[in-house]
Amino acid sequence: MPAIPPNVRGAVITGWGTALPPKVLTNHDLEQTIDTSHDWIVERTGIHSRHVGGSTVALSIESGRNALEMSGVDPLTIDALVLSTTTPDRAVPASSPAVQAALGLRCGAYDVNAACSGFVYSLVQAHGMIAMGAKKVLVIGTDTLSRITDWNDRNTAILFADGSGAVVVEAVEGPGQLLAWDLDADGSAERFLYSEIGGFIQMEGKEVFRRAVRIMVDSATKSMAHAGVTADQLTLVVPHQANVRIIQAACERLGVPMAKAATVLHRTGNTSSASIPLALCDALDNGRVQQGDLVLLVGFGAGMTAASTILRWGGPSDPPVLA
Ligand code: ACO
Repeated sequence: MPAIPPNVRGAVITGWGTALPPKVLTNHDLEQTIDTSHDWIVERTGIHSRHVGGSTVALSIESGRNALEMSGVDPLTIDALVLSTTTPDRAVPASSPAVQAALGLRCGAYDVNAACSGFVYSLVQAHGMIAMGAKKVLVIGTDTLSRITDWNDRNTAILFADGSGAVVVEAVEGPGQLLAWDLDADGSAERFLYSEIGGFIQMEGKEVFRRAVRIMVDSATKSMAHAGVTADQLTLVVPHQANVRIIQAACERLGVPMAKAATVLHRTGNTSSASIPLALCDALDNGRVQQGDLVLLVGFGAGMTAASTILRWGGPSDPPVLA
């Protein structure tokens, strides 16, 4: 992707929130229904437990409301709602209008489906809308993968789960937080990970693993080059939460110590669109990012898609949010 032109109106994240269904499914629970073991799942994926249940609309309302409350933004002033989801509640309409109505927004609302890269795609779109005049955009990433997971298939049942994460993005004076972005897709690889309408997720795990590491590293490398930053300058890497071994391999190739990676997958599993915002919110809530720190978001998913951004947290000098 080309570098961001100068004098484009920028934006910063001013609020964030999450939602997880109350029901927790542990690896020991899965041992009761499929031929697997807690130790195998932990060793091969890093996942210990996950949350399942709820609907995409309900989880999105909860995380969206939490993000709005934190930002203090009047819902009536939100200019657009972008909901990233691979698992809408219905085929028609999209899930976002129901979320828009429940949150009291009066703005455009649409769904984005770029699988597990979808939140980063949506965040980039939010910045694009702000560059074109919008002032406040709500970005939500939600998936309820448990509804398209065959719970008798041990290849996939150990991985997938439900959740939601949201951020409020507000226009600022000056360049804002987004230093660079990269979006990618390779439709020739779609056969390795897909679900027919009404069906269950089908996955060639080894092939997805191999490609995931490569495309995450490629996308992250492009974003870092566009931003003019090097791996050692990053404070935090927020990768898609699919498998801790994929995260370790990607970090190693990027030259980033694992200590800089945000990980929640041990307690969330793979929540697709929600995975990056859940990990980002966890890192923010734990004070891992300070004003001016460089943060890499990087995802991959079915498609196969990939996406990354470099953010300078809070923008270059804490610029005032535009009213
Ligand atoms: N429990 C116990 N044993 C198992 C299980 C299980 N759930 N699954 C497979 N095994 C066995 C296999 O039969 C095999 O046994 P064998 O050696 O006797 O033949 C052995 O464990 C190893 O199996 P592999 O398939 O080689 O296991 P691998 O190390 O590749 O791990 C996994 C499998 C976890 C699925 C891994 O390939 C992976 O994470 N791939 C990426 C998946 C992913 O990220 N998907 C999401 C993409 S994002 C999106 O868009 C949703």
